[in-house]
Amino acid sequence: MYSKKQHYKDPNLYNGETLDVQHLKNDGKKMYIESYGCQMNFSDSEIVASILGEAGYATTRDLKEADLVLVNTCSIREKAEQTVRNRLEQFNGVKKSNPNLKVGVLGCMAERLKSKFLEEEKIVDLVAGPDAYKDLPNLVKEIEEGRDAVNVILSKEETYGDIRPVRLQSNGVTAFVSITRGCDNMCTFCVVPFTRGRERSRDPKSILKEMKDLADKGYKEVTLLGQNVDSYLWYGGGPKKDFRKASDLQKKTAITFDKLLDMAASEQPNMRIRFSTSNPQDMTVDVLYVMRKHKNICNYIHLPVQSGSDRVLKAMNRQHTRAEYIELIDHIRTILPDCGISQDMISGFPNETEEDHQETLSLMEYVKYDFGFMFMYSERPGTPAAKKLKDNIPENVKKRRLQEVVTRQQRHGLYRTQKFVGQTVEVLIEKESKKSKKHWSGRNQQNTVVVFPKENFKIGDFVNVQIEDCTSATLIGKAVSHG
Ligand code: SAH
Ligand code: F3S
Repeated sequence: MYSKKQHYKDPNLYNGETLDVQHLKNDGKKMYIESYGCQMNFSDSEIVASILGEAGYATTRDLKEADLVLVNTCSIREKAEQTVRNRLEQFNGVKKSNPNLKVGVLGCMAERLKSKFLEEEKIVDLVAGPDAYKDLPNLVKEIEEGRDAVNVILSKEETYGDIRPVRLQSNGVTAFVSITRGCDNMCTFCVVPFTRGRERSRDPKSILKEMKDLADKGYKEVTLLGQNVDSYLWYGGGPKKDFRKASDLQKKTAITFDKLLDMAASEQPNMRIRFSTSNPQDMTVDVLYVMRKHKNICNYIHLPVQSGSDRVLKAMNRQHTRAEYIELIDHIRTILPDCGISQDMISGFPNETEEDHQETLSLMEYVKYDFGFMFMYSERPGTPAAKKLKDNIPENVKKRRLQEVVTRQQRHGLYRTQKFVGQTVEVLIEKESKKSKKHWSGRNQQNTVVVFPKENFKIGDFVNVQIEDCTSATLIGKAVSHG
């Protein structure tokens, strides 16, 4: 899921917010790290904080006391890149008053632009791509000695499974645990396969260990993260596409996503488990049965579709049709009747006709998503769409279609939240409500935000809340008992 403030609010995203001070082994140096874009970037920043912590850098949330600024960047749309460039401008100002300050760029823009970054943005001293973070201690040493440092080598193996992330910006209740890296899907509009490399899965043992560590520390919910979690496949390490070369034993004992989910839910029965993102072509009914079997796996599926038109789905190289997607939705509704479902949509993909757009609206009408993340098509350099298709839908048409999609989603959001009014839902308290100091904010299983009066409850409590009112995105209620 990616942040786009004007269309939705995702409680998991803190775009551009800074991170907590950590008390790690520290020889006096401090770094300040800022993350943009998807949940994976936020999770990666926790890995970076761990790696650099070991190398003597504590993290600070005060830019003024930082020796090193790191920006974990997003390339998914042009606007995401522009946001980062504007932020780098601001760091340039800070550098004037602190000439020793070093600036590093991490994440997808680092991978996409490589050493070009050093020429384009004079302020940048260090560039490290998503698979190069273990090299950061060396890279930092280089820049401390006055040389520029770049590592953008993509790996087929690296999962950071052996790194214990430093929990940054944490409420002590919910955490991300990454299970796969990279993506092999090659949707024609998407830059991720180029910036994050080939898909590979993390050793289930290290995933389960990280979950246990979190449970021991009092965490109550984890979100298993990957670009395409349903494609998870552990056969001893290495890229997913090399599975066909695996031994018979490896093939027989391979662990798929439904199995991983089953193991995770059984081992941590008191922890809520979520996962993101599901790709329709790879999601199996086995996963749905595992969700039904375990009460602690949240009944919520983020199931991006991008378009309701077969013609556009094909041009996007999505590996399923509209009918197959609807079939999957029907399976979800049958096996998990109260499951929340959310979408990602792109308006204005090259050659999208009015009829294609209407197909998107009619698919939305069929599913009536709980919420969604909706974007205008943004051409990304180097992607198959950029190479082969002209970005030919005028901006005003893209905007109008996006607005129609957003309006439709708001209507469906309200339809879904209204259904909760009168019901009692289990909520995990995550934080104080942004709008009122007297209210807690948390989410129900379906990932809808619920606010209610604090009473004597505290962050991390599971509470049964009777829903009395709603907006299109929020449920408002009153606690009736501990969950
Ligand atoms: N599997 C991923 C999807 C990554 S991209 C995940 O974990 O979420 C997230 C969303 O951004 C996509 O589903 C798509 O809706 C949107 N997106 C990706 N590339 C885009 C582009 N070039 N223009 C507009 N939106 C895009
Ligand atoms: Fe991108 Fe498609 Fe993978 S949207 S992240 S190429 S599933």
